[in-house]
Amino acid sequence: MSRIVYVNGAFVAEAEATISVFDRGFLMADGVYEVTSVLDGRLVDFAGHMARLERSLAELEMAAPAGREELESIHRELLARNGVTEGLVYMQVTRGAADRDFLYPDGAAPSLVLFTQSKPLIDTPAAARGLKVIVLDDIRWGRRDIKTVQLLAPSMAKMAAKAAGKDDAWMVEDGFVTEGTSNNAYIVTRDGAIVTRDLSHSILHGITRAAVLRLAREAQMRIEERPFTIAEAQDAAEAFVTSASSFVQPVVEIDGTALGDGTPGPVARRLREIYVSEALKSAV
Ligand code: PDD
Repeated sequence: MSRIVYVNGAFVAEAEATISVFDRGFLMADGVYEVTSVLDGRLVDFAGHMARLERSLAELEMAAPAGREELESIHRELLARNGVTEGLVYMQVTRGAADRDFLYPDGAAPSLVLFTQSKPLIDTPAAARGLKVIVLDDIRWGRRDIKTVQLLAPSMAKMAAKAAGKDDAWMVEDGFVTEGTSNNAYIVTRDGAIVTRDLSHSILHGITRAAVLRLAREAQMRIEERPFTIAEAQDAAEAFVTSASSFVQPVVEIDGTALGDGTPGPVARRLREIYVSEALKSAV
C-alpha cells in the first residue's frame, strides 16, 4: 500500500512524509484529531467533525492550521488522490515544532497531517456478530471531551480485551460506565429506553452519538442521558456503541454476561440501518 498523505501544505507519498522530531504532538501528545468516515466517496457528519475540531483547538489554546473550507478541500483532494470510496480520513493538528518546554511556545506554526484508510464500514463481520466487551477502570485524564492524540490508555485497554479473547472494553469510573475505548456506550433497558451517559468532561462528545440520538428521537424512541452501571448494563435488553469508524455496533456480551440471547438486538440493528441510510443521504 502506498498512499498519498498530506503534511503541512503538501500532498506527498507516505514514505516521503516527514515531521519534526521537535513536534509537540510527538514529544507531548500536544495535538488533537478527527476521524471522518467516507461512504460513496463522500464525507459523513463532516460539519460536526469540523465543529468539534475547532472546540478541541480552542480548549487547548491551539491555533487552527487552516479554515474550514481549506480543510474540506484537503479532505476531498486526499480522497480523490487515493481513490477512496469507503473508509476513513484521519486528520491531526498539533501545536507544532518548538524547543522542548512544558509551556506552550509563542508563535509555533501548527502541524497538519491527514491520511486516508480504505476499508469496508457498512458490511463488517463485527456489525453482524456483535461485540464482546471486557470491563476496565477508566485510567484516562480528566478532559476526555477534548479529542487529543493521547491514546495509550485506550491502546492498553484494547490489548487487554484482545488478551482476554474479546473485542473491546467498556471503562468505568466511580462505579459508572464512561464510554468504550474508542466509542460511546449505550444500553437499551427492558422497557425500551436508550440510555447513554450525559455529556461532560468525562467522555468524548461523539459526533455519531449526536446524530444517532437525533435520529432515535425522530423515530420516537425514548432516550435517557444519564450514567449507568455495569450491573444495569448486564441486565439490559441490549447494548451498543457508536463511533465514526463503526457507526452503530451491537454489544452482545459484557464482562462474560451475554445480553438477551447473545445476538445483536433489534434496537441496535434498527439504529444502524437508520444511521447508515441517513449518512448515505447526507454525506457531502
Ligand atoms: N474514536 N469516545 C472515544 C473515546 C473515541 O475515541 C471516539 C471516536 C468516540 C466516538 O466519537 P465519534 O462518534 O465522533 O467518532 C467516543 C475515533 C473513531 C478513533 O479514535 O478512531
